Amino acid sequence: MSIRSRLSSDQKTLLQKTETYVEKLLHDDTSGHDYFHILRVRKTAESIAQKEKADAFLVQMAALLHDVDDPKILGDAPGGRAEAFLQNLSVPESFVSQVLDIIANLSFTSQMNGAREGSLEGQIVQDADRLDALGAVGIARTFAYGGSRHRPIYSGSADDDSSIAHFYQKLLRLPELMNTKTATRLARRRRRLMLGFLKAFHQEWEGR
Ligand code: NI
Repeated sequence: MSIRSRLSSDQKTLLQKTETYVEKLLHDDTSGHDYFHILRVRKTAESIAQKEKADAFLVQMAALLHDVDDPKILGDAPGGRAEAFLQNLSVPESFVSQVLDIIANLSFTSQMNGAREGSLEGQIVQDADRLDALGAVGIARTFAYGGSRHRPIYSGSADDDSSIAHFYQKLLRLPELMNTKTATRLARRRRRLMLGFLKAFHQEWEGR
């Protein structure tokens, strides 16, 4: 185990403070981006970071803060929450910018606009966030998110804004977009589970 994969007690304290802050912000969410999403992303990112020998502190801090500036989760917030929070933590300025870079390049939309996660740590947090959109949890989150946006479950098309269409438009493509080998392996397994779910869904839809 590399040195960077062990957290100092100072780092543990900082992560605890961050947990408390994020829990307060996201505990009311019912769109699939609640505090438990954050905890799962952190846990997954932590375990990928260990396998890929990445900086555990940076990965966990970015995982905890990755959704606090997303306008679709917390409304049309002014943004800059992560930055303001980190500035108060007394961590080095370079660390603040590393975390902010990771968060800024994270989303599917950023990537479609050409953004890339430059650091290994950023790639890992992105992988962990995407993994949470896959598998059994991903299925549950897709319908929760769709419901929160008043989207239909399904309308017979793979090409509209229903939750089932979202599987074909985005979710099933995610395994190809993973950055790390560890995440690719997990993503493929979770995708197989989703394909099984979709098969059953369509059979039942047809009354079979
Ligand atoms: Ni997220």
